[in-house]
Amino acid sequence: MTKMNNLSCGASVSKMGWALVSAGSREQRFWACIVGLLMVATVATEATAERSLERGAYLVNAVMACGNCHTPMGPDGPIETEALSGRLVEKNPGFTAYASNITPAGPSGSWSDAELKTAIREGLRPDGSIIGPPMPYEAYRGISDADLDAIVAYLRSIPAVENDVPASTYAIPLPAAYGDPMVSVAAPEGTDATATGKYLAHNLGHCIECHSPPSQRGPDVWERPGEGGFIFTGPWGTSVSSNITPEALRRYSDGELANMIRNGVRPDGTKMLPPMPYYAYRNMKEEDLSAILRWLRVQD
Ligand code: HEC
Ligand code: HEC
Repeated sequence: MTKMNNLSCGASVSKMGWALVSAGSREQRFWACIVGLLMVATVATEATAERSLERGAYLVNAVMACGNCHTPMGPDGPIETEALSGRLVEKNPGFTAYASNITPAGPSGSWSDAELKTAIREGLRPDGSIIGPPMPYEAYRGISDADLDAIVAYLRSIPAVENDVPASTYAIPLPAAYGDPMVSVAAPEGTDATATGKYLAHNLGHCIECHSPPSQRGPDVWERPGEGGFIFTGPWGTSVSSNITPEALRRYSDGELANMIRNGVRPDGTKMLPPMPYYAYRNMKEEDLSAILRWLRVQD
């Protein structure tokens, strides 16, 4: 629960200098101590929960941009009052995909936390059915346990928006599962910026899924990761994802790359097209963006 569990009652109370427990019988002191510890534990747990919620909001809205698929789009981008309530996201010969309503008013609102986590990280609903593309499972199978907790905490906290989303239809065959059941995923070590950058870009931001060429199995993240060439059509017309391998990005400075990612503006001043979620990346923390840039330069 909290760090307090590791300390003996007397030691932690004396560390905090609570005079409260120094008077009274042994038994009174004991209970005062327990109550005090519970208060500290509650405050600490609430602080942890708040941090987790904050992290969840940041991941969903700035780094992972779930709303880029799940939020209804207007002419100016995502309609924030209808955030995450679902929409038609892709219609092609292979499938018609509706991103689900993932607000508390949608089907997943009644799933348990464990069920919702399995849906997000493994692509399986509680009834065992598989969640189809373009929900990016190649990437999301690597979401760490702590981040998954944070995402779920945040999804539970957002406004419920009523929106009946039709079922997707897939002409392409879908697998029974995207891999073995997951037990646990650790976050990358905090000090290694390149590993953190890979986790942010590859698993959370799913940059590589959008930036790999099409293949029979979806974007070819296995043989040709980052080489670009995936075609996106929408109200903007047609856009093609760029080659973002280290070789191709060498012509850009870090500042130019940051401006493309955050603002959707190329070094020559021209505006870049959707569906890359610049509006979300704009809110990415400086340290996270620099970790991403660091990894983009090597991509090992
Ligand atoms: C590239 C588009 C895309 C992105 C990004 C995306 N999703 Fe999805 N998601 C979908 C589609 C499409 C479906 C429905 C697929 C189907 O009908 O089988 C879906 C389904 C789901 C479901 C199943 C809900 C249900 O009722 O069946 C959950 C939960 C979910 N997404 C959560 C998330 C979360 C959380 C994020 C961000 C961390 C996210 N998605 C990012 C496209 C996306
Ligand atoms: C939903 C799909 C999608 C996602 C997610 C995405 N991109 Fe893109 N990206 C594109 C498309 C499409 C273009 C081309 C836009 C254009 O031509 O106007 C692009 C262009 C770029 C460019 C410009 C390169 C050049 O030479 O023109 C860079 C750099 C880039 N993306 C990096 C990233 C990074 C880093 C991430 C993850 C943090 C990311 N992208 C996530 C679709 C995506």
